[in-house]
Amino acid sequence: MSEILNIIINPNPILRKKSEEIKIEDLNNQDLQKLMQDMAPTMLEKDGVGLAAPQIGKNIRLIVINTKDGPQYFINPKIIKKSILKEWGEEGCLSVPDVFGMVKRSKKVYCEYFDIKGEKKSIEALGLMARILQHEIDHLDGILFIDKAKNLREEK
Ligand code: CO
Repeated sequence: MSEILNIIINPNPILRKKSEEIKIEDLNNQDLQKLMQDMAPTMLEKDGVGLAAPQIGKNIRLIVINTKDGPQYFINPKIIKKSILKEWGEEGCLSVPDVFGMVKRSKKVYCEYFDIKGEKKSIEALGLMARILQHEIDHLDGILFIDKAKNLREEK
């Protein structure tokens, strides 16, 4: 049974810590399996497009993104290349509720990661997917979108 996890709300030191890499041999670990079972439903329940492990209180390098094919996990995701070309786009964050702002991000990123089976994968992401990857990977480095945003506004 999966459960909906509590989201850590800014300000909280957990959101500001650099997260640790996951050892691929630990992927069968029960706690990690349970976490991955719960993160996707938590993201979906809160209408998020992505969720990073620090947001549910774990400082490990794990994110989930709601892709067009459904929730997908990225373990130890690393941006290898990003386009010099950037674009502005509006962002929000489950850890910064009701706040939105414009953030300039690379239009295209090339990212390496491990999947839930521990297989090494890569993705070339464009537009919104590139934006979400950059936003979520920032979480793993203790960075929030409000650090980079302009025209922050509050909307209930
Ligand atoms: Co966020």
